[in-house]
Amino acid sequence: MAKKLWGSRFNKKTSVLTDKFTSSISFDKRLAKYDIVGSIAHAKMLGKQKIIPGRDSALIIKGLSFILKDIERGKFKFDYQAEDVHSNIQDMLFKKIGPVAGKLHTARSRNDQVALDVKMYLKDEINESTELIGLLQKSILKFAKANRYVIIPGYTHLQVAQCVLLAHHLLAYIECLQRDKQRLTDAKERIDSMPLGACALSGSGLPIDRSYVQSQLGFKYVTQNSIDSVSDRDYILETLSALAILSVHLSRISEDLILWSTKEFNFIDIDFSFCTGSSIMPHKKNPDVLELIRGSVGKIHGNLSSVMILMKGLPLSYNRDMQLDKPPLFDSIDTIKEILEILIALFGNIVVEKEAIAAKLADESLFSVDIVEYLIKKGTSYREAHDIVGRMVKDCLDKGKKISSLSSAQLKKYSPRLAPDVRRILNAWASVNLKTSYGGTAEKLVLKQLNIWSKRLNA
Ligand code: ARG
Repeated sequence: MAKKLWGSRFNKKTSVLTDKFTSSISFDKRLAKYDIVGSIAHAKMLGKQKIIPGRDSALIIKGLSFILKDIERGKFKFDYQAEDVHSNIQDMLFKKIGPVAGKLHTARSRNDQVALDVKMYLKDEINESTELIGLLQKSILKFAKANRYVIIPGYTHLQVAQCVLLAHHLLAYIECLQRDKQRLTDAKERIDSMPLGACALSGSGLPIDRSYVQSQLGFKYVTQNSIDSVSDRDYILETLSALAILSVHLSRISEDLILWSTKEFNFIDIDFSFCTGSSIMPHKKNPDVLELIRGSVGKIHGNLSSVMILMKGLPLSYNRDMQLDKPPLFDSIDTIKEILEILIALFGNIVVEKEAIAAKLADESLFSVDIVEYLIKKGTSYREAHDIVGRMVKDCLDKGKKISSLSSAQLKKYSPRLAPDVRRILNAWASVNLKTSYGGTAEKLVLKQLNIWSKRLNA
């Protein structure tokens, strides 16, 4: 079992219950790589500043590099009796190089050490997640381009609203995913501040060089206040918040695909390889993957709440409560990456049911706003136009008629401005192509956006 870093002051051994209850090695072992890289930079600095002899610094670095290699090869045997990853590595260093290992923790506390480890871990994870979001955007874009001439009925309140290009709907996903990437990148900017040297909470009386450690570890900034350095976890909260918002987007995308794949909608068919069946109903092909993505949002938001509540009543500075920030953080990061990976693949395995969708576009209520705008262009006020078209729609629904089947005389009765040429706009393509306002769904605008995104995502 790893030696306690604080045992000498104790007149008794801690209870095994205490050891088990306080240990974090089972989950913080994933920080091992960062812990060592941070320790190597720290040892280098101690040598450079002559706080420890140069040869001791070199020996410590050699020992740590050895351990790092083992960890990278997956050969390091973690000691599950250790209090945490920091103790475990310190103990292993003792075994490798002997008492000189005892000099590594000079001018350092686990309080600033753990903050450093988590920040380095987060910078890497954010890079990985934003890269995966980019790949998902590309996968969606590819699907959008392959189906760029498909028009679907758009919905508000889950009631048929107006025609839009399917690609336009898909580009909406790409837009919100872009903001998710930006949010994470933005969070990284504030994570990028090096806390080591804050020690327990007050800094050190030894001539340490914090800027040197900062540059060794590739941090943009160095923290300005030693108490803040070990007290706050806002960078974890910020990351968890950005992931929670991202998860809402991924859930809504999943919900659309779930709806679209129902018999009732029948917009898409998801390949068997991304569906599951029923143990009792032989006919079933269920979108379980998408449902689990939707369901995962619960725990991702729970993880954010968990750390928010963990932090909210803590007095400054470090408190052991903060050890419990890690399981929810790791869980959200792992879950999001898993979701992104499967969604990237799933978008390559969807077939659009073009004929079934086209049949739904015969519903002329999709064009009601187009008739309103037709009248407005001829001088009718918006309010009056809305009333006129409302009456037309009601009569047609009551009589089971189509607007396009109304005679010229019947049209005139609703408004003298309703000429027979109104029939020309009563089709999906005309309707879509009327929406030429910036950001609208007109074909030429959407094709332009597809191009812009192709360039942006491949850059
Ligand atoms: N395992 C602890 C954590 O994750 C490390 C810091 C412990 N510091 C201390 N003084 N007990 O927060």
